[in-house]
Amino acid sequence: MTDTLAASSPAHDTGAHDSGAHDSGAARLQRRMARGAAFLGSEVAVMAGAMSWVSERNLVAAMSNAGGFGVIACGAMTVELLDREIEATKALTSRPFGVNLITMHPDLMALIEVCGRHGVGHVVLAGGLPPKGSLEAIKATGAKVICFAPALSLAKKLIRSGVDALVIEGMEAGGHIGPVSTSVLAQEMLPTIAEQVPVFVAGGIGRGEAIAGYLDMGAAGVQLGTRFVCATESIAHPNFKRAFIRASARDAVASVQIDPRLPVIPVRALKNAGGELFTAKQREVAGRLDEAAVAMAEAQLEIEHYWAGALRRAVIDGDVEHGSVMAGQSVGMVTREEPLADILAELMAEAAGALEKRGA
Ligand SMILES: Cc1cc2nc3c(=O)[nH]c(=O)nc-3n(C[C@H](O)[C@H](O)[C@H](O)COP(=O)(O)O)c2cc1C
Repeated sequence: MTDTLAASSPAHDTGAHDSGAHDSGAARLQRRMARGAAFLGSEVAVMAGAMSWVSERNLVAAMSNAGGFGVIACGAMTVELLDREIEATKALTSRPFGVNLITMHPDLMALIEVCGRHGVGHVVLAGGLPPKGSLEAIKATGAKVICFAPALSLAKKLIRSGVDALVIEGMEAGGHIGPVSTSVLAQEMLPTIAEQVPVFVAGGIGRGEAIAGYLDMGAAGVQLGTRFVCATESIAHPNFKRAFIRASARDAVASVQIDPRLPVIPVRALKNAGGELFTAKQREVAGRLDEAAVAMAEAQLEIEHYWAGALRRAVIDGDVEHGSVMAGQSVGMVTREEPLADILAELMAEAAGALEKRGA
């Protein structure tokens, strides 16, 4: 596998131990990714970020088999479903992969226990700060904990509480997003925290040159989602993949909150009728709040539930008009369906090519 990925370099030089002026882009890339790859137990320090409904056994195994690191999206799965998904993924790959758990899941502790029983080596916690006891519970299983750090102060706090690695994800990404761009987060956070724990940069990465850039800035690796959705192995509905292939960067827009009383965590997805209906729904619920026809808690819940199932509707059922077609701005760089190994090899070749041109 190393041959496949290293040979992707234009220089076709696999001399990982070379140093000095004569080493190839591939060798430089391998050196820059060594820490992240050792942490993940993969060949290259590239994670396929968990994507609900998309990141199931097939995509995860394809990513890990290609030399990267696949992550199962647990999302709203029950304990039994996650148990089965991990088992099925293990049947498709003998390589390491991770599991992404949402911190708000009511059965978080039981899900951690399932990961432990299967010997999952890495648990990614998404969706907010880890609840009390969850980090300790994951570490007690022997797994490493990876968390999302949306700001420098929170990154420092997470490091103090014992996380093993961090993902910093900018607002260019697909799915739920924060307010700051990847380039600013990387500049603000990498110089301070990259030496303390491995940091993986995510959001808006579509080509290998950008990967090389973040590695040069101190990242241990990267996480991509959007770029892997149209992998041949991805079970996303053909309509979902077609929407990605047709879309350009400006079609991937963040949802808008229209009333301060009804908080909406922004989601980046392709523009469609579903997005407009969501805005209309917020307006309607806000109107009922004005008339005191609905209680605040109930109104907020109504908004929250509106999207429940919307991603499934688009990914699995193929309703890309009314479902949620979550996609990052890098969607414009998704131009065809191709095997995951080819996507990863292309990214690595671009990264190695960029490093080849560097002076040192
Ligand atoms: C369709 C889709 C679904 C996603 N679902 C999740 C999820 O369930 N949990 C999560 O932590 N991140 C989720 N993400 C974010 C990805 O894991 C990843 O961090 C992100 O896609 C990286 O940015 P990029 O899309 O610009 O490559 C999702 C992204 C997409 C495109």
